[in-house]
Amino acid sequence: MTGQTEAPIRLVRVCFGPNCSRNFAIDLLLEAEALRRRAPDLQVVQCGCLSNCDWGPNLELDGRLYTDMEPQLLRRIIAP
Ligand code: FES
Repeated sequence: MTGQTEAPIRLVRVCFGPNCSRNFAIDLLLEAEALRRRAPDLQVVQCGCLSNCDWGPNLELDGRLYTDMEPQLLRRIIAP
């Protein structure tokens, strides 16, 4: 035990289901990866369909669903 308190990991799950992929989920993933380089507590993963295809591209941050996402909105919710 080091006595240091580790920051909790924040988990971003970017939907790469068929609809979100067609709606530029790659842009969200690239933005999330760029943000992760400045925020080491951020973990970024791709995931399958989040069952909200009509509102994609979608992602989850710590289990909360964000729909109709854009990279600038992601920046706002990650680093308010
Ligand atoms: S493909 Fe992303 S919610 Fe279904």
